[in-house]
Amino acid sequence: MTIQSLGYIGINSTDLSQWKTYGTEVLGLQDVTDQHPDSDKCLLLKMDDRPYRMVIQQSDTDSFGFCGWEATSQANMASTIDKLKAAKVKVSHASSELTKQRCVTELVSFVDPAGNQHELYWGPISNSKKMISPVGVSGFVTGEMGVGHVVLPAPNFDETTQFFSDVLGFGLSDLMNIRFSDDPDEPIKRLWFMHCNQRHHSLGLFEMEFPSGCIHAMLEVESIDEVGKCNDRRIAHDVGLSGTLGRHTNDHMLSFYMRSPGNFDIEYGADGRTIDDWEKFTVFESTVPSFWGHDFSVGQG
Ligand SMILES: [Fe+2]
Repeated sequence: MTIQSLGYIGINSTDLSQWKTYGTEVLGLQDVTDQHPDSDKCLLLKMDDRPYRMVIQQSDTDSFGFCGWEATSQANMASTIDKLKAAKVKVSHASSELTKQRCVTELVSFVDPAGNQHELYWGPISNSKKMISPVGVSGFVTGEMGVGHVVLPAPNFDETTQFFSDVLGFGLSDLMNIRFSDDPDEPIKRLWFMHCNQRHHSLGLFEMEFPSGCIHAMLEVESIDEVGKCNDRRIAHDVGLSGTLGRHTNDHMLSFYMRSPGNFDIEYGADGRTIDDWEKFTVFESTVPSFWGHDFSVGQG
């Protein structure tokens, strides 16, 4: 497997101050923008011992920006680039300035068949400083499993899932076939959950358009208490709830969903399961998203 993890995510923002408040006071991340003088018109949020895991860039839209995928080595990155080129995907090498800003050794970008933006890098550069959460979050579950997961729109579903499987080497963890209404004429939308490490899924692909470019991004904290504390901060900051507390059937994550200034949801969870041996894992279809909870009707209207 050439891609190790979701190393960071990029977000577009018309007002960085919204993300500064949300990222630090609700999510509990550390603002380290001042520690990176090269980063112009960006907000950098630290989750762990990496320099940062979220970059919010000044933009004329409030939307998801890109995924930053981490390759384990120079050789693995080179072989992934070869596969992208063989699949006729344009690979753009980043400038030395951007590579330095991302705190990595080598950086390229590409676009998937659904139009989602991605970066690929190897050799993260870190001074190993710990994250100091401004609201006392004990820590996020990251490491070799990366940031968490993102669910991206993929209206051209077959082409996009094939791209992530065959070109980038992701494995299918499980899937859902979803209708939002009881109307039998509503087309079924496929949702695939895909892995690149022990985390049950680092990527979801949903067979639908989504204007902000991301359905949700998930951050995992170390305990259920930290999930509850974040919900308290959500209420204190009047951030809308999108889905009530619940536990998912596929990754067993105990989580809730809330709005973000990026027009996509943040899932904030704990207790997600990990899969040590994918060879012994049976890919399955879930007919319900959760064992209990996760009432998404609270976010409607
Ligand atoms: Fe999720």
